Amino acid sequence: MVMKRKFVFGGVTAVLLLIIWFTFAPPRFWLNLTKPVDLTNAAVAGEEMVAVYDCRSCHRIAGQGALKAPALDDVVTRLDDVSLRLWLRNPKAIKGNTAMPNFHLSDSEIEAIVAYLESLEIKE
Ligand code: HEC
Repeated sequence: MVMKRKFVFGGVTAVLLLIIWFTFAPPRFWLNLTKPVDLTNAAVAGEEMVAVYDCRSCHRIAGQGALKAPALDDVVTRLDDVSLRLWLRNPKAIKGNTAMPNFHLSDSEIEAIVAYLESLEIKE
């Protein structure tokens, strides 16, 4: 009896740990599995992602949004491909004390957002 109870307890703990792990630090394969984006019209999909994740609550993009963070209209000219993607994948990896949240974006969400940012007209 005691053995069995220990076994159940261990199982419940393992499941709880898994839930905590997948909630707070979801592994990349899981993000890619649960949040795939069709990249046929990548820029359009990216525009939608920017709305879904409310990037404009901090960034000005295409003339709209807050000024709490750098405007993103010309960001593709300021950052190289790798840095831009790293900002979207894990902001704290590029700047430890940044206010930019980690949205746990999947790879295809990142590619869509990059395509949208690349499509923006740069105004002088
Ligand atoms: C809570 C506010 C906030 C939200 C929401 C936010 N960001 Fe940011 N982001 C920042 C801040 C602040 C910085 C500048 C980081 C710094 O220098 O500390 C930044 C930096 C960036 C950069 C690098 C900009 C540069 O000029 O180097 C990119 C790209 C970016 N964010 C994209 C996004 C996208 C795309 C979204 C939506 C998915 C988003 N951000 C949502 C706050 C935010």
